[in-house]
This record gives sequence, structure tokens and C-alpha cells, in this order.
Amino acid sequence: MTETRKRLGILISGRGSNMKAIVEACESGELPATVERVISNRQDAPGIDWARDRGLECRVLPHRDFESREAHDRAVVGDLKEAGIQWVCLAGYMRLLSPWFVETFPQRILNIHPSLLPAFPGLNAQRQAWDYGVGWTGCTVHLVDAELDHGPIVGQQAVPVKPCASVEELQGMILEQEHRLYVRALRRLLSQEWRVEGRRIVFR
Ligand code: GRF
Repeated sequence: MTETRKRLGILISGRGSNMKAIVEACESGELPATVERVISNRQDAPGIDWARDRGLECRVLPHRDFESREAHDRAVVGDLKEAGIQWVCLAGYMRLLSPWFVETFPQRILNIHPSLLPAFPGLNAQRQAWDYGVGWTGCTVHLVDAELDHGPIVGQQAVPVKPCASVEELQGMILEQEHRLYVRALRRLLSQEWRVEGRRIVFR
């Protein structure tokens, strides 16, 4: 199958290390894609400075400037559409998307979450896993639907908890795997044929 380079938009709220992994994989040719937009809902997101310095097209759209979730989402989507974005990657974007946003890019929005979903959705997933005392946790890349950390799973990577002396160490080990998993999962979706059957993604 011939690969055509897809136009990606990345949404961030903070550090942006997963964004960096995706940008670098696009630049090295590991991903058949180009990052055409980085949008942050926070002015002070360190990731946005990195993206600007890298010469990427960036926008800051603070959600507090809008009267509702959907009004903010409409501004974000308007900008993504203007840039001809085909795939949207959430990379530490701390906002739940409105159903309208999700329907605008059907099966074309991805998220990464630092646990083996459906365990430990929501905030501080690594801390939740640590406090629960599980032997294994990890990270998950999934298609986004209107529920938090919920859509069909594209890929998962398990990480053992036992070698870690602290939750911070566990976070670091998971993050290292997140960067690899996000690129791997995206590459698979962009370069293979697949369909969604119920909650399952079936690759041909
Ligand atoms: C990551 O742990 C990701 O799984 C979660 O938020 C964090 C973002 O980190 N959704 P970064 O901004 O990509 O460095």
C-alpha cells in the first residue's frame, strides 16, 4: 500500500513530551505524516515554546476566553480545519472533547493515557496505580470518543511497578514507553487498513 503523508494536528496543555516524540518521528520519516498545527489551551504550556522554536505552526486558544466547552471546541476545530488537518493527536490535552468535536473527526482522534485502560482512567493514573498496589501498569493509546479515556484501544504497553522505588520513578518509566507506543500505534493506523468493530480495532 502506498503511503501518503497525513496532516496531523496536536493538542497539548503542558510539557508536550509526547508531542515531541510524534514531531521527531514525522521528521525522521518513521511516521508517514507531517505536523501542521500545535494548539495549546494554556498560554504557559512549556510544549508550545518548544514547538514554536521548532518552527511549527502554533496557536494558543485559552479555554477561559470562551463561554462554553463547545464554543472553545469550535474555535479549535475551526483552526484545525483551516490547516487541513486529517488526524488529531491529544498529547496531555487536559480537556474533555465535546461530542460535536468528536463527531467532526470520526475515528481520527487519538489519545494517550498513562495506565492500562480500563484501569485507572482520569487524572493521576500513575499515582492511582501506585496507591492501588498493582504489579503492572502501563500506557494505552486509544481512539477518542465523547467519554473520558474510553474509546477503542489501538495499543497498550505494560510496565512493571516492582522495580520502581517511587511513584515518580514509575511515571518516568511509563513516560518512556508512552513516547514509543504513541508513535507505534499511530504508524499502524496510518499505514495499515483497519476498521472498528464494536470496541475492537481490527487490522487487516
Ligand atoms: C502523559 O502522561 C499522557 O499520557 C497524559 O498526560 C501526560 C502528558 O505528558 N495524557 P506530555 O505533556 O506529553 O509530556
